[in-house]
Amino acid sequence: MSRRRIIAGNWKMNKTPAEAVALCNELKDLVKNDAVDVVYCVPSIDIVCVADAVKGTNVHVGAQNFYIEDKGAFTGEISAPMLKEAGVEYIIIGHSERRDIFGENDILINAKVKKAFASGLKPILCCGESLSLRKAGTYKEWIARQIKWDLDGITADQVKELVIAYEPIWAIGTGETATADQAQEVCGLIRQLIADMYDAATAEAVRIQYGGSMNAGNAAELLSKPDIDGGLIGGASLKPDFGKIVNA
Ligand code: PGA
Repeated sequence: MSRRRIIAGNWKMNKTPAEAVALCNELKDLVKNDAVDVVYCVPSIDIVCVADAVKGTNVHVGAQNFYIEDKGAFTGEISAPMLKEAGVEYIIIGHSERRDIFGENDILINAKVKKAFASGLKPILCCGESLSLRKAGTYKEWIARQIKWDLDGITADQVKELVIAYEPIWAIGTGETATADQAQEVCGLIRQLIADMYDAATAEAVRIQYGGSMNAGNAAELLSKPDIDGGLIGGASLKPDFGKIVNA
């Protein structure tokens, strides 16, 4: 079975609504590629206008965060039904910035993965180790623990629809990319873990992205690796370079 490549931009807290529409228009012809799923994960305030701006193109809309309840007294939060109605298909869950800056733990992240599936949103589940864990050599155990917690109670059929993004924290926004071999090592390990937790068919179907300073210069090599099915791209997703990554 061959997995469909998925290149997702994580815009983080960048672009006002007007700037977001301008970026969609700038990228429109550059990101054309029928063989790739292209996703823009945009700030909540930009979702409605980005969904409109990419209508009729090959671009799918993603969100960066949501809360696990449908509605109610949760000041500042946004719900899955709100995202769905606005045209969102993908949702980033467990990004290291949500874990580290906003204190999200694996219990909440697991609840979000469950809620996303129950709501018809496709999770892009992020995992990754800090520089100190990398140096200590315990990064493999760390990532396995994150995946086991985050997928607790998730079925094989759901995992087949899941995207997992391996994002070493030391490579995010630092300009320091994991080498293609380092990225492949962990992405391969994640696929093996899914085989152990579920079965071979599920491991074969789950899509695994690399993220962390991916750019137009290093994308082709990273994406040539057997267990790297795509990328989650921060900084370079805000520039015409993103088109080069989509077509790498
Ligand atoms: P970066 O961010 O490409 O700017 O390193 C990736 C991410 O955090 O998803």
